This record gives sequence, C-alpha cells and structure tokens, in this order.
Amino acid sequence: MTVKLISEYSVTESLKKQVIEWRRHFHRYPELSFQEHRTSQFVEDTLRSFGSFIITRPTPTSVVARLIGKEEGKVVAIRADMDALPIEEENTFAFASVHKGVMHACGHDGHTAILLGVASVLSQLGDEFKGEIRLIFQHAEELLPGGAQELVKEGAMEGVDYVIGTHLNSGLPIGEIGVLAGPMMASPDMFNISIKGKGGHAAAPHEAVDAIVVGAQIVTNLQTIVSRTTNPIDKLVVSVTQFHGGTTHNVLPDKVELNGTVRSFDAALREKVPAQIDRIVKGLTEAYGAEYTFTYEKGYHPVINSEEITRLIEETAIEEYGEERVKTLSPKMGGEDFSAYLQETEGAFFNIGARNEEQGIVYPHHHPKFTVDEDSLEIGVKMFLRITEKLLAR
Ligand code: NI
Repeated sequence: MTVKLISEYSVTESLKKQVIEWRRHFHRYPELSFQEHRTSQFVEDTLRSFGSFIITRPTPTSVVARLIGKEEGKVVAIRADMDALPIEEENTFAFASVHKGVMHACGHDGHTAILLGVASVLSQLGDEFKGEIRLIFQHAEELLPGGAQELVKEGAMEGVDYVIGTHLNSGLPIGEIGVLAGPMMASPDMFNISIKGKGGHAAAPHEAVDAIVVGAQIVTNLQTIVSRTTNPIDKLVVSVTQFHGGTTHNVLPDKVELNGTVRSFDAALREKVPAQIDRIVKGLTEAYGAEYTFTYEKGYHPVINSEEITRLIEETAIEEYGEERVKTLSPKMGGEDFSAYLQETEGAFFNIGARNEEQGIVYPHHHPKFTVDEDSLEIGVKMFLRITEKLLAR
C-alpha cells in the first residue's frame, strides 16, 4: 500500500494569500468566549468545502475535524483557539473589528486561519496516509472554565497520541520560533477575601473595627507567602489586584473586598497556597476583631511541555528556518488552557514570532492596537504540517 507524505504538498502562494484573507475575516468579525457562533460556522463551512474531513461540533461553538488514514497509526491533534477579547480596537486598518468593544487582541484570529490552512493542505491527502490527524478548533480560551476542558470532557482527545499547539507572539520577532521544554505557562488561580469589620465615624476609630486597616495588613502579609515561606528556587506569584472599600472621607467602612491571583508551575506548591492565605487572613482578622470569608478558585493547569516533543518541534524549526531563528523561551506566569490537553496526553506548545518593528507591529497581547505580522501565518501552517508528519511517523 502506498502512503503519501505530507511533505509532498507545499504551501502555495495562493494558499498563503487565502490564509491571510481568513485571518482578516476573523479579525473583522471577532466574537467573545463561548459566543463564537459565526466564527465556528465559518470554520465548519470552510472545512466542508475541502471534503475529506469528518466534522463534529462537540459544543455549540467549537469544531473538530478528523482526517483518518486508511492504515492505522498514531493520532495527532492540532489545536487552535478562536475567541476574541472585550477590548475596543484602536487599529484603523480596513479589516479592523466591526463589533463594538470586541477585538482579536491576542492573535487567535491568526491561529484559526493557520489551522484552516493546514486543513486545506491535508485534505489533499484524502485517506492515503497512516494514522489520524485531528484538528481542534477550540472556543473560549480566554475565559474560565475554558473551552479546552469542555472539549476534553466531550471526548475530543480520545485516542490522541500527541497534541500540539502554537501561539503567535508579538514579543518575538517575525521569522523566529520559540520553544521551551518543561514548564512554560503557569496555573492562573483566583481568590476573593471579604473582610467584615465594624463601620463608624472616621473621627472615632476606637468605636469601629476598621476593615481598611485590616485589609491593608492582609495585603502586606500575603507578600510573605512568596518571600518567606516559598523556596526561592521555586516560582510563585501572589498578587492582590483589587481592593474595594469605603464610600467617603469621613466614614470607616464595615467591609472591604480583596481579589487577587496566584500563579505557579508546580502542583505541590500550588496546593499549599490556599491554606497559607487562609492562615494569614484568619490570624489577622482575629487579631483585629474582624470576620472574613475566603474563596479560592483554581484556574487552568500549568502548561508543561514534553521534552521529547519540544525537541522534535525545535529540530523541525531548525531544519526549516535555521538554528539562528529558533529561540528558547523563558517561562511565563500567564495561563493557557492548552494545558487541559496536556493532562490527557503527551504534547507541546510553541510560539511563532509575529513582531515587526519596521511595520509598527510592536504592541503587546491584549492591547487595543495589537496585531501580528501576517507572514507569521505561513510559518504556522508549515510548522504544523512538518511536525505532524514527524509525529505520525513516530
Ligand atoms: Ni491568547
């Protein structure tokens, strides 16, 4: 039986243009997490136009496309996220968002277009290959509980041997590819602390229990979780990001609300933090005669890349683009729900440079002027095709 190789197919000039057009279409019509109705329909319709794929809709706004070879083999999944952010776009180019207050400010428009480009090339294989390639067009990466976890629950990862994904990166110059074995992105947990004191006149603090002073002590003391109780070699962030209380200058409020985030890579370390926060809040509120409630919500798992698959991605990038264009990334404390797939099977996440200083493409992710150098899209298509071929051959 003859089996075709993915590398027999190239990314043509016309496909390159098509992928850019797709990206511009998604950019123009961004949709928020869990509301990607139009986007997912466009993806489904485009995939159907290619033929070859078995298409399912595991959740209302996600699409999974399977290409199954006539010989059994490895199952490789490639994931793209499709959601936009609640940001008013400040770019003025022709394909800027027409949806007020919604914008593709993280590059997920590019991810979706790249994966459609991959699908377009792969569809030419038909079933003349060994194994299965599963394309996961995921909804809701930006909003907890995240789409990835839902797709896993719906069986999108059943039978998958390897999973890969990428993020366009406006911090990395165009032409460069970023890889990192091991911990890459942190688990973004959230907490809320509500402190109840006793309100009163600002001129008579002795008759009140000042929730603001208690809150301030708590914020200060939470800093010691990282600085005094965590091994300096470990990576941990505890940040209070909201402090709400009070109405005017001469009233001591009876209540203060604190919100914050905890970021870590290590499961054991992560497990310890809620009890540490609780101990500090409990001790301080008791000391001042206040009361409290404390809730802790776990976010995504950390992204921990497989060493072997990361090496394979790195090798592929070096073969395609040369050693000088492949960079080792530093771990980031941001979150990414690609981790839900990595809980199920071996895989890795990597970055594709999308920054271009000369063209003014320099804004960070989630900025109202964020955009990507569209030459990064072709790199994404090529990388996924080459990596997939290698993974199928394993
Ligand atoms: Ni993103």
